[in-house]
Amino acid sequence: MGKVIAIANQKGGVGKTTTAINLAASLAAAERRVLLVDMDAQGNASTGSGIDLSGEGEKQIYHVLLGETSLANVIRPTELAGFWVVPSGSDLIGYEVEGIDLEKREQRLARALRTVQERYDFVLIDCPPSLGLLTLNALCAAESVLVPLQCEYYAMEGLGHLMQTIELVRQRLNPSLQLGGIVLTMFDRRNNLSHQVAAEVTQHFAARVWVTRIPRNVKLSEAPSFGKPILLYDIRSPGAQAYLSLADEFLRRLAPGQGSRVREERGEENERTESVGQGDRLAYSQPGTD
Ligand SMILES: Nc1ncnc2c1ncn2[C@@H]1O[C@H](COP(=O)(O)OP(=O)(O)OP(=O)(O)O)[C@@H](O)[C@H]1O
Ligand SMILES: [Mg+2]
Repeated sequence: MGKVIAIANQKGGVGKTTTAINLAASLAAAERRVLLVDMDAQGNASTGSGIDLSGEGEKQIYHVLLGETSLANVIRPTELAGFWVVPSGSDLIGYEVEGIDLEKREQRLARALRTVQERYDFVLIDCPPSLGLLTLNALCAAESVLVPLQCEYYAMEGLGHLMQTIELVRQRLNPSLQLGGIVLTMFDRRNNLSHQVAAEVTQHFAARVWVTRIPRNVKLSEAPSFGKPILLYDIRSPGAQAYLSLADEFLRRLAPGQGSRVREERGEENERTESVGQGDRLAYSQPGTD
């Protein structure tokens, strides 16, 4: 049964979609079967994965949530073997309103996923920048939440609210939900602020902060306009290397029984893209202790 991981942060533009697409692609490159569910009406995870949303009357996640079609019906393959997408589109905006009258409106994604989950090793859900009904559906369907955090001013603003929401969902709707971890994105090693944010977040969340930091890399922002994950756009870029490392850490932390083959398969040493300090190393060696 595939593990379901929601990629969430109600703050906008922190790297949720970039992480969802490129982590999914990197896991697929490691021969895992991955389904990426786009739960944002912006449809960035869909177009950034090369899915054409222009087709008239094409069904997408919105129609699945309303019960008009099955999830299996809307799954689309991508250019990369092992990587499939459930697309979204602007119709999805309506679900926040139309969904209000539906029975178990926050459990609809979970219910739909159960019908296909066994076909995949991992299901990643790209959440919109809000804590509304769509994100709630993702949190009800997931066993882990991965929180991308941009290394910028006010990075931790709103994080308390997100943690509270995760705790509430765990208590009332989905007892198996856990915080899978926090991933620092758009890290600039030459910028003091990035280091300050990393230190502050690590002080609060300790081992829950993942060791792999995603650097700011222009290739990561260019790739979506070509409808490609970074691996297919520029595999040698620091951004691509960082997401391969992230997939490696993902497998160690969230699927330890499965082992990690990302780097082994590529015949490389298991090096991380950004150098890490002693504190990070300790945190990394104790992923299950918090
Ligand atoms: N590591 C990075 N280096 C450079 N640019 C990045 C990086 N990560 C993301 N970006 C760019 O920053 C912008 C925001 O990223 P992204 O869309 O992934 O964030 P998001 O959290 O999904 O946003 P939203 O909240 O609107 O859904 C995009 O233009 C993206 O290309
Ligand atoms: Mg997004």
